[in-house]
Amino acid sequence: MCGIFGYVANGHVSPELVVDGLRRLEYRGYDSWGIASLNAGQDVQITKAVGKISKTSPEQLDRLRDPATLAMGHTRWATHGEPNETNAHPHRSQSGRIVVVHNGIIENHRELRHLLESEGYVFKSQTDTEVIAHLLDRNLRYTHRFDEALSLTVLELKGAFGLAVMDIQQPDRLFAVRLGSPLVVGVDDGRCLISSDANALAIYTKQVIYLDDGEWAEVTREGVTTYDFHRAATGKIAEQIEIDVAASELGSFRHYMLKEMYDQPESLRNALRGRLQRSEATVRLAGLDDLGERYRPERVKILACGSSWHAGLVGRYFFEELARMPTEVEYSSEFRYRNAVIEPGTLVIAMSQSGETADTLAGLRESKRRGAQALGVVNVVGSSIARECGRGVYLHAGHECGVAATKSFTNQLVVLLMLAVHFGRQRGMSIRQGLELLDSLERLPELAEQVLKTDEQIRQVSEEYVDATNFLYIGRSMEFPIALEGALKLKEVSYIHAEGLPAAELKHGPIALITPEMPTVVIATQSFILDKVASNVQEIKARGGRIIAIVSEENDAFHSLADHVVTVPTAHDFVSPILATIPTQLLAYHLAVLRGCDVDQPRNLAKSVTVE
Ligand code: M6R
Repeated sequence: MCGIFGYVANGHVSPELVVDGLRRLEYRGYDSWGIASLNAGQDVQITKAVGKISKTSPEQLDRLRDPATLAMGHTRWATHGEPNETNAHPHRSQSGRIVVVHNGIIENHRELRHLLESEGYVFKSQTDTEVIAHLLDRNLRYTHRFDEALSLTVLELKGAFGLAVMDIQQPDRLFAVRLGSPLVVGVDDGRCLISSDANALAIYTKQVIYLDDGEWAEVTREGVTTYDFHRAATGKIAEQIEIDVAASELGSFRHYMLKEMYDQPESLRNALRGRLQRSEATVRLAGLDDLGERYRPERVKILACGSSWHAGLVGRYFFEELARMPTEVEYSSEFRYRNAVIEPGTLVIAMSQSGETADTLAGLRESKRRGAQALGVVNVVGSSIARECGRGVYLHAGHECGVAATKSFTNQLVVLLMLAVHFGRQRGMSIRQGLELLDSLERLPELAEQVLKTDEQIRQVSEEYVDATNFLYIGRSMEFPIALEGALKLKEVSYIHAEGLPAAELKHGPIALITPEMPTVVIATQSFILDKVASNVQEIKARGGRIIAIVSEENDAFHSLADHVVTVPTAHDFVSPILATIPTQLLAYHLAVLRGCDVDQPRNLAKSVTVE
């Protein structure tokens, strides 16, 4: 949450470059923005505005156009204090010497504020960030050495922070500091850059240094030196990243969410590529290699949040059915504060698109502390979870810019299914069943292409429901979590309230809600449980509820029951829920567009949740 971008250049820095960097980071927060630049004469210029950086006008940048040697900016997701210009970053210390942008939360900001106020510091904003600027300024008075003062300051802060710090007496360098919120430094010819993620740097340089927690970097145009918080050099050197910048461009699509739904056939192909091993009727995942051939976990615990948690719930069916491995799926935020029992032989899977979700990262650390074997299932290469797990399976979904998880979710399902086949084959799954699953996985990208052809039909269906204020989503077995995910998608992009339920739970209470004004989306592609879902749908129909059914082609049981039937190609029962996800994404998208919502950057949300 919150994006930081800055750079130190050989020559004059351009505000447009900082704007471009922040635009690429806008998915992390977009309620306000600010940029500061500094020149050799120690003049600081700061400009701030409420709203999105992508809506910046050239006039707003005019103030920054004076020749400057460095610049840094911030795009905000408000935590402390409403989104207004005063609370927007950068924040400047009382003496004016220090300028700071911050991603994260300072948990002891109240105590620090009282201390600083008692010493005469006057605060202008309601943010926790302003304490950092004043505290560093104060510590400089005591020590006179910048590195000592910075060390004292960061050791006094509690919470999570990624910081870019400007000291106007050092107009040739920026400081990037990391504890719990990601920061990456890019090294280029004649300039060095700071960013909250490597994707925003990739257009400028492929040479990056990932800062670890408890580390800061002194960034000059000649290069980067890294230190720990006690000022000992850590000697980090740049590594090469492989990021396809073109893949993040919108192209002819109207929204990233639409593009990313249409990316799915290709992203699924990328997730499968080189991993299906027909000769052994199994799946080979390089991320498991260092655990050795004989590694056989007894049980699985999946830690995740949001859509990743829903994917984990589907994964539980995969692991239990195909590998007979007891599986628990936990909200990372609950797990981390629970005195959870992790039995020997447990494989903990930290699942996260961004690889930066604060609660999942904390849950991962807690389970490692308790001796669990950890595996990351992550999309963003080089992210904190990927690096802290040390081993994992990448989703290969490509950069996902829309706040709503789409292609990362379907790739999570595929990766979990591949893991279940891998462990299943170690634990008695027959060659025949292994090959059946490999066949159906191989066909999946092509079938996903066919499902996308329902786009126009779903757009037309959406027109009938544009004024709905509530929706129910129901499914059974593996399609219960798909119902949860469909409901989440609808809520976050269209702001229509929705609830996902196991279909059979309706009659235990929620059926009381059924009226013609409460549409129900029924997800029913798994053949083995079809009749049971059909009975649940009869009960809705009998009470006048409107029904949108997502079913397999060969299933005609719902045609007489549902108001609208969306068909997906018939596939293996373990694969069809993946296909059934796509129409739920399209429905949420079209309803959001018809209602005039900002689908890619819905209100109050951010793509990467790096605070608790
Ligand atoms: O990056 P992660 O997968 O760890 O993110 C977890 C959730 O924040 C995320 O899935 C969120 O629920 C999405 N906005 C859902 O579309």
